[in-house]
Amino acid sequence: MKIIASNFKTNHTRASTKKFINEVDSYLKQQNINNQVFIFPTATALDSFDTVSNLFIGTQNAYFTKNGSFTGEIGTEQLDEFGIKTILIGHSERRHILGEIQKDIALKYNYYKELGYKIIYCVGEPLDVKESGLTETLSYIWEQFEGIDLDYENLILAYEPVWAIGTGVTATTDDITVVHQNIKQKINKPLLYGGSVKPANLDEILNIPNVDGALIGTASWEVESFTKMIDIASKIK
Ligand code: 13P
Repeated sequence: MKIIASNFKTNHTRASTKKFINEVDSYLKQQNINNQVFIFPTATALDSFDTVSNLFIGTQNAYFTKNGSFTGEIGTEQLDEFGIKTILIGHSERRHILGEIQKDIALKYNYYKELGYKIIYCVGEPLDVKESGLTETLSYIWEQFEGIDLDYENLILAYEPVWAIGTGVTATTDDITVVHQNIKQKINKPLLYGGSVKPANLDEILNIPNVDGALIGTASWEVESFTKMIDIASKIK
């Protein structure tokens, strides 16, 4: 069954997040949909949400600490308050805009792995690397797995080419096919695709071999669009 995940990034308020999550929860119940659905709200909108067991609320980020002096960050003390046990790690915006380096990403990964969190771990190459060819693209991606235990049971991977994120430029079926096949050959974990996924292209993307689901930004922020994509995913074996 395909996995559908929404990354809110820096969007929605506490109030609109609550409404969104409640609507998605009701939709899953009413339609009797059992696919795993993830929502990653902003840190300020995290809360204890009472949802069906296949709807997971995760944090977009947290530091590898329980608490302490890490201005602007949150740790497990804050996540535990709401029973949050799911985290997104290695997202390209954290790597490229916020400057997270692989060493710290691996420390974060190991910290949350030890605590048994469900981890959606993201990789993906920038445009100049893609333009250098497949060999360069794959070696760039392998470097993003440095220090990451790929046997971890609660690991889900996401391939998100940086040049396709928030740009409206989706990777072609060929691009996705070849990278997903290469990653899957090495790593036997669920593998999501992300980058300008929307209702109009989701079905085609989910039918590409080795695509186990989608991690969606922009097109997931309106609940009608997100539930439409959940519906599309629920109809695919
Ligand atoms: P867009 O769907 O806006 O391209 O974002 C993808 C993404 O970064 C999800 O994590």
